[in-house]
Amino acid sequence: MPESSKSAIITSALPYANGEIHLGHIASTYLPADIFTRFSRLNGREAYHICASDDFGTPILIKAEKEGKTPEEYVALWNRRDYDDFAALGISFDFFYRTSSPENVGFVQYVFTKLRENGHTYEHDIVQFYCEFDDKFLPDRYVVGRCPFCGAENQYSDLCEKCGRVPDEILDPKCAICGRPPVKKHSTHYFFKLSNFSDKLKSWLLSNQNLQPDVKNYVINWIDEGLQEWDITRDLSWGVPIPLPDAKGKVFYGWFDNHLCYISTMTKFMEDKGRDGKKFWNESEIYHFIGKDIVYHHYLFLPAMRLGINEEYKLPDWIPTRGHLMLQNQKISKSRNWYIGLKQFLEAFPADYLRFYMASIVTYSQDDLNFDFDSFAEKINNELIANVGNFVNRALSFTQKAYSGKVPEPGELGGDERIAKGMIESAVRDVGELLSANETDKALKKIMELSTYFNQYFQKKKPWSEKETAGTTLYVAVNAARTLAILLEPFIPFSCEKIWAQLNLQGSVHGQSWQSAAEFAVPAGHQLGKVEPIFKKIEAKEIEQQKAKLGVK
Ligand code: MF3
Ligand code: ZN
Repeated sequence: MPESSKSAIITSALPYANGEIHLGHIASTYLPADIFTRFSRLNGREAYHICASDDFGTPILIKAEKEGKTPEEYVALWNRRDYDDFAALGISFDFFYRTSSPENVGFVQYVFTKLRENGHTYEHDIVQFYCEFDDKFLPDRYVVGRCPFCGAENQYSDLCEKCGRVPDEILDPKCAICGRPPVKKHSTHYFFKLSNFSDKLKSWLLSNQNLQPDVKNYVINWIDEGLQEWDITRDLSWGVPIPLPDAKGKVFYGWFDNHLCYISTMTKFMEDKGRDGKKFWNESEIYHFIGKDIVYHHYLFLPAMRLGINEEYKLPDWIPTRGHLMLQNQKISKSRNWYIGLKQFLEAFPADYLRFYMASIVTYSQDDLNFDFDSFAEKINNELIANVGNFVNRALSFTQKAYSGKVPEPGELGGDERIAKGMIESAVRDVGELLSANETDKALKKIMELSTYFNQYFQKKKPWSEKETAGTTLYVAVNAARTLAILLEPFIPFSCEKIWAQLNLQGSVHGQSWQSAAEFAVPAGHQLGKVEPIFKKIEAKEIEQQKAKLGVK
């Protein structure tokens, strides 16, 4: 297996601090990142998964104002809530911070100053809406009006939600706060010269062998079509202040500061441990997990900004990018209320059921995937429970019954056992390779094949009637259950804890070594713990209830 001895920094896209985490977020980003992190830890790497709430920006300020809260109070609530929801799903962040942290604010200002010194920014006058009543510039979402294309009323100036077009100029503009018509005013904005980096970005993309080829190709197309300079200023109070004396009342655009938070958060985490954060960043392999809607930002802005400060912090090695989740074959939309909140889902089903189902459907590609309640129940009942649950429970409960829970002394290992051992060894190797390459779904499939094999082995060896070989069969089966617990830990960590407890093994399943999964490490004479079914079947009526909640049949 390609065992990278390098440490790994794993980041998941930062959730906006203005709404709950839903199933769509999980599938493309957080679950694949968590599986990869857990695998990396088992595989002996120093690996950290970090994230933060994305606190700044106009929509967040508007929402906070609507709820009568300060933006600080408002984002603090979502930061906590998101973290708790993630924890309930077993997303094992090493550190979850925030873009509004003093460390990030300082770092963003430092990066801007460097970019400016290096000649990668310029100032430019733009004309913007301004509300004289509220005494505010009105960026993006602060202006509503009639769409010049389709005539829809009450549309934002940066997007008509009716026809999906972006109006050049909204008709009958009104201030979204007070409803009065705004005036136009000049404002000086700062721009980042993205086009300075066209060649360097292109050669970086071409030379990086880990990036997914299809994404790489369309990003290169964007470069070939010519990159636009990028307005990084907002006339707003909620954001990272632009550190220049004549930029009073101006902050950076959220997409200028948020991805820098990967670096500031990781650095803070390391420095809190008394280590050199920058050195660690530059010595590690960097993985940014994202959904395909933010490719532009991660494949262009983010590397360009790091290039612009002379790669003081290295560029990513991997940017695992995945497609969107559909819900019952329809696009997820929060505004149309077509989504399922993570918290709500976990009130109805165990976290591992969601993890198992999602992991089995999410491919390492831009393809969209579909959450479907019937296939969810099928996967859990017919694969997770009927395959893994069945084998582990049979192996352990038979040992419990026939040998009072004491792992029997094996006889000489026969042909079947040598095959079984070989199956385990190749599964540990193959699954490890697939997980290293981010092929999460394929890795899970391989583990399921191993479990199928052991169900068949058990069935063939009939330990209930073949008394002669029963000891050997159970010795092998109990050990295979241990192997499965380790291999499945990245996918269904809560259930693997249960298996580990029933096996009554030392330490935690989360702290095992991946390689050791290939060994028969449960010795004869070992006493099992309390054996009971690990999973509970999903009943048809539970699925009906969930569908009724969504309003589908
Ligand atoms: N908050 C952004 C979104 O949900 C993602 C930010 S990822 C970052 O689309 F890296 F850029 F911070
Ligand atoms: Zn107004």
